[in-house]
Amino acid sequence: MSPSVPTDDPREGPVLVVDFGAQYAQLIARRVREAHVYSEIVPHTATAAELAARRPAGIILSGGPKSVNEDPAPSIDPDVYGLGVPILGICYGAQLLAQQLGGEVARTGRGEYGRTPLTVTGASPIFSDWPERAEVWMSHGDAITRVPEGFVATASCPDAPVAALHDPDRGIFGVQFHPEVVHTEHGRDLLERFLYDICHCPPSWTHTSIIESQVAAVRAQVGSSPVLCALSGGVDSAVAAALVHKAIGEQLTCVYVDTGLMRANESEQVEETFRRQFHIDLVHVKAADRFFEALAGVTDPEQKRKIIGELFIRIFEEVARDLVVEKGHLDEDATEDEPAGYLVQGTLYPDVIESGSGTAATIKSHHNVGGLPEDLAFDLVEPLRLLFKDEVRAVGEELGLPHEIVWRQPFPGPGLAVRIVGEVTPERAEILRAADAIVVEEVRKAGLYRELWQSFAVLPAVRTVGVMGDGRTYAYPIVIRAVTSDDAMTADWARLPYDLLERLSSRIINEVEGVNRVALDITSKPPGTIEWE
Ligand code: XMP
Repeated sequence: MSPSVPTDDPREGPVLVVDFGAQYAQLIARRVREAHVYSEIVPHTATAAELAARRPAGIILSGGPKSVNEDPAPSIDPDVYGLGVPILGICYGAQLLAQQLGGEVARTGRGEYGRTPLTVTGASPIFSDWPERAEVWMSHGDAITRVPEGFVATASCPDAPVAALHDPDRGIFGVQFHPEVVHTEHGRDLLERFLYDICHCPPSWTHTSIIESQVAAVRAQVGSSPVLCALSGGVDSAVAAALVHKAIGEQLTCVYVDTGLMRANESEQVEETFRRQFHIDLVHVKAADRFFEALAGVTDPEQKRKIIGELFIRIFEEVARDLVVEKGHLDEDATEDEPAGYLVQGTLYPDVIESGSGTAATIKSHHNVGGLPEDLAFDLVEPLRLLFKDEVRAVGEELGLPHEIVWRQPFPGPGLAVRIVGEVTPERAEILRAADAIVVEEVRKAGLYRELWQSFAVLPAVRTVGVMGDGRTYAYPIVIRAVTSDDAMTADWARLPYDLLERLSSRIINEVEGVNRVALDITSKPPGTIEWE
């Protein structure tokens, strides 16, 4: 993959964030982009020559979970300090550069964790917006005890005599604290001074520029070949489709498979947005019957997922074949070098980073992601592969996608099936869809929809006794599941306000036939998962 910001001006190359482990690098890269400067994450094993080849405007050495005094401790090719590129070391990165350039990092036995007062003690261009004292966020056990030759210490904290250092001649800076976290006052100012004044980066990475560069890249990649995109109703595929459509218009065909397991109004929304608003060639496959038929009598969760996944691929394959034939591009001998067409994939930057710790440039695309029809030899178009989720949403808004799609909570590929315990029937799917729509509506009205990672209804496989009016009922309960999370790896159950819970309970029981009880899931992840199956 070529760098997304090709340029002959070395100052307009990316800011490279060197990853020393944990999630520090991702947060720094996002903060740099929030300052409208393009950044990419690279592994610490990259050589100085490899970094130089990217013509970086600046290099940021991230924090990391290790100590520089451990053996082995992750390091970086010391030749980077001689590249003439401005460098900012943060926390571990600051200690590493201090140590590699001849200073001293000691285990003082007095670490600092959390908010700490910092005093600026010397002039430094990265502190030009700072008052003499500020609160910063620290997380370190070791401390820099002697600065390398040519460096001056420019700030101190109670337990970090050298909380910042800098070499004015080489443009190398280090800060022991974390400017990227919101708890550090003026952290953003510090990063901006480094990016704008030291690296001389123009603030040109905007949503408009992202769209322009990706539109150009998609056009260059696909030429006049047909392009297919599977829409799921989710944010990523929607933004990817809108972007590709802006690039190549009618060459794009979107396929939306209605499995019968979608949320309320999802299919209408996809139709409305893509067909009527964007005038995209949309194939809407109404396949609910086929899915329910395949799922009849099946109660094992894994089996359900497998059935849904396989049927989805089969249907997509049928449609793809028809379309490629129709558009006259089917070549039975299509190969990877001469593909029959292209397939849009909504891969995001965190997936790219996580699918291998190599630089973005060395990571291979996963062919067959989501089980593509392999024998049709499609090539992938991944217009979001350099973007973080918040950038994808911003691009979606810029492209004119409706808020409901852009800000939609994540929804699993197998749809409502993973929230229907036991057999998935049209009737049970309908009960769940109706209850789920009430949850979404009330959570939105309470102003909590964006705050929650996910909020939805679950239909268990039991019935319970109730009383309604004069009669006894024997019907399903609905379980409300609402969680907060940053990345779905861990989650906490959301403390929903009682009045919201009260409205949910009474509306679901009154409005959804077949339900006589509402319960609340108060399990965090781990040990629970977010979905029930
Ligand atoms: P769990 O239930 O494992 O879910 O805590 C973590 C996140 O992943 C979503 N999820 C899925 N997404 N296909 C998907 O595309 C799936 O099969 C699937 N299962 C779970 C879930 O909604 C949550 O955001």
